[in-house]
Order: sequence, then structure tokens, then C-alpha cells
Amino acid sequence: MKFFVDTAEVSEIRALAESGLLDGVTTNPSLIAKSGRPMAEVIAEICEITPGPVSAEVTATDYDGMMREGEFLRRIAPNVAVKVPLTEAGLRACKHMVNDGAMVNVTLCFTPVQALLAAKAGATFVSPFVGRLDDIGQDGMGLIADIMTIYRQYPQLKTEVLVASIRHTVHLLQAAKLGAHVATLPPNVIRGLIKHPLTDKGLEAFLADWKKTGQTIG
Ligand code: G3P
Repeated sequence: MKFFVDTAEVSEIRALAESGLLDGVTTNPSLIAKSGRPMAEVIAEICEITPGPVSAEVTATDYDGMMREGEFLRRIAPNVAVKVPLTEAGLRACKHMVNDGAMVNVTLCFTPVQALLAAKAGATFVSPFVGRLDDIGQDGMGLIADIMTIYRQYPQLKTEVLVASIRHTVHLLQAAKLGAHVATLPPNVIRGLIKHPLTDKGLEAFLADWKKTGQTIG
């Protein structure tokens, strides 16, 4: 399973890239706004330090505008994945950009049939939002299960399921059990995956015992 980080904070991305845990980055207009920086500048910087795809989202809502913005974003770096919303114009733009060799992430997916449409449009990634469905009392992880079931029926579909709007470790665990290809996680959720109180306690005890021996290694 690939791990992407869902942020536009360069310092966070740099630290995760150094950890070797990072396969890509996702951003959206809200995350760019939160960074307080010009989009082209921040995406260029993220692309330089990220080993894999970096999703940068269009803000046009019409086909021509999406194509124009997509062209601009693709020129920033070869690892930009153009993010388009799951609308009629977005699916059309997806199809054309993919045919032209771009990576495209179709975002704001909330139903299994929307995910089927994204795959038919040739999307590189489809982003179903689990947390936002849970927030309104619907079953976010059920959506992932349905999409995985549908995609498995048609092995010719190459779209990767990028589980988005992940809020906690259990979301990640369930997505991995379902075989989702990618999870995009906020930085604090990635750090939370590492932590366990018994790891900390065990390490403390090992080090205390080791100290008593007076030995050093090497
Ligand atoms: O980037 C898309 C998605 O991960 C947003 O998550 O937490 O705003 O629902 P959230």
C-alpha cells in the first residue's frame, strides 16, 4: 500500500520524505490556502522533495478552464498529478489529460458508481472521501469496500483507489485490509501509526537493563 501525505506544508513533507515512508503527496485548494503560499511555488517545492505523484487541484469548474489549468500545473513538474472534481466536466478533462500522458486524480468521490465513472475516464487515481461520509453518518469504509469489489470485476481498469479524508489509524487499517492501493493521510495520522505505549515502555526497559551491563556496542 502506498502512503501519500495530505498536506501542503513543506516542512512536514520534507521530514516524512526523509523517513522513507512517503510515496506521494496530495493537496487541495483548502490545504494550499492553509499554507498561505502561492500555489505554483509551493507545488514546485513539494515536487522536488517528493519521490512520487503530487496532486495539485484545478479550481476551474468548466472543461476548458480545467484543461488550461491542468496544462499549467503539469508544466510545474513531471510528477504533478492533476486533480479534478468528479463532475461531468472533470471526467471529460480527465479522459483528455490521461490520453495526453498526464496523471489525473479524480477527487470528491462519494459513491461506488462515481468511482466506476472515474475508472472509465481512465483516471490514474480516484479519491473517495471516507471521513466526510462518516461525518454525516454514512459508511465511509463501506464505500471503499464497494469500489474494490467493483474494480476487481474488471481487471482491465487500471485506476488506483486513493483513500482520502482519513481521520485515524483504524481508517488506514481497514483500507489496507480491503486492499486499497493508496492512502493519503494527514501528517499527524502518519505519526500516530508508529506510536504504541508498549513500544515506548519496552524500549525504556531494554535500555535500563542494558545500562546495568556497562557494555557498549561497537
Ligand atoms: O485531500 C482530500 C481529503 O483527504 C480531504 O480530507 O479531512 O478535509 O475531509 P478532509
